[in-house]
Amino acid sequence: MSAPVGIIGGTALAELTDLEDARDLDAHTPYGPPSGPLRRGRLAGREVVFLFRHGPGHRLPPHAINYRANIRALADAGVRTVVAAAAVGGISDAAEPGRLVIPDQIIDYTWGRAHSFSADGETPLQHVDFTDPYDGPACDELRQAAAGAGLNVLGKGVHGVTQGPRLETAAEIRRMQRDGCDIVGMTGMPEAGLAREAGLAYACCAVVVNRAAGRGDSAIHAEIERYLEQGMTALGGLLTAAVPR
Ligand code: HPA
Repeated sequence: MSAPVGIIGGTALAELTDLEDARDLDAHTPYGPPSGPLRRGRLAGREVVFLFRHGPGHRLPPHAINYRANIRALADAGVRTVVAAAAVGGISDAAEPGRLVIPDQIIDYTWGRAHSFSADGETPLQHVDFTDPYDGPACDELRQAAAGAGLNVLGKGVHGVTQGPRLETAAEIRRMQRDGCDIVGMTGMPEAGLAREAGLAYACCAVVVNRAAGRGDSAIHAEIERYLEQGMTALGGLLTAAVPR
């Protein structure tokens, strides 16, 4: 049997309602427990393992998520490919609210998060090659599936990851724009780096739920409320259309 695909849900994907034969897996890791139960089941004919990164009741803010435990638990469950969902703000004009983005690059602005397995005193130090932080074939499958399902998708983009939990200032977003960021979120790192250290193929499917600070005319939270549900539906549609192998 082929390996199950890991799906990490975020604010835009708190649960997978279409999971068939779903059951919870017990997960313990040397880093402590993952955010919540890992749910294994079948989605569109593929075995998947779902984990909601903010945990039951959405109680874990981005900086307090145990990213090492989450990635380790998914790897221990036999996962080899991870698709990570994320709700993000749009910085570039093309990253408009309601649109899906499959980013191809990352800039990491987070700090103080446990960002490497190498720091655990046991795992040998590795300087992983992170030139291309997302897995090419997994991203391509998502792009094709999105296009095939007629979804409004931007096939590449630079994902800037901030510390949160507060949103950014307008000046911070202007700086990120100068840096080349297209979208901004708070959970993309160290998740992607840890997945690379663990040898997992990792792709992100972001949904733009607002214009980033200083980029739009309406209040950010009103915009998020307006676009979150639409984004969830699009994300659900994409994952049901195709889960990468
Ligand atoms: N900034 C950071 N993270 C986010 C945003 C944002 O504007 N929107 C959704 N997640």
